[in-house]
Amino acid sequence: MFQAARIHAQSKAELYRDLELQLKGLLEGERNWVANAANFSSQLYLMLPELNWAGFYILRGNDLVLGPFQGKPACVRIPVKPAAKGVCGAAAKARRTLVVKDVHEFPGHIACDSASNSELVVPLIKDEVLWGVLDLDSPKPARFDDDDAAGLEKLAAIFLAMTDLSA
Ligand code: SME
Repeated sequence: MFQAARIHAQSKAELYRDLELQLKGLLEGERNWVANAANFSSQLYLMLPELNWAGFYILRGNDLVLGPFQGKPACVRIPVKPAAKGVCGAAAKARRTLVVKDVHEFPGHIACDSASNSELVVPLIKDEVLWGVLDLDSPKPARFDDDDAAGLEKLAAIFLAMTDLSA
């Protein structure tokens, strides 16, 4: 089962390498997207320091709809088209990872939890189709950098490879 105490990384690169191995173990043997997204969000929330929210929004039509997450209750629907809203909508529309050092400076940021000060959103794209986004929030200003973006993109790729998104 899940063993949070086994990771004692010395660096961010090492932490993400350890998280990759841990995620592969966590998802092995199950391809249901709800189960895998729920456990992935739990892993991130428990293992990454200084987060107040970690979870998924799933693309349904023109909107991102709230999926499995850890943290406070969040807004349930975020438009991507015709006008993208929030950091999640912007990342989905641009189909690239967004690292926002100060969410209060981001035009249209959606404040689900007033404690959030920085945010990282990874679009989840499989076979060139946008399926949703992975969203992380932190109360710490500038919590996320390019190393976090690269690490979370790799973790997201593992999730996408090990999960049946239509089941
Ligand atoms: N802050 C996000 C909305 C989702 S919550 O952070 C969970 C945004 O601006 O898209």
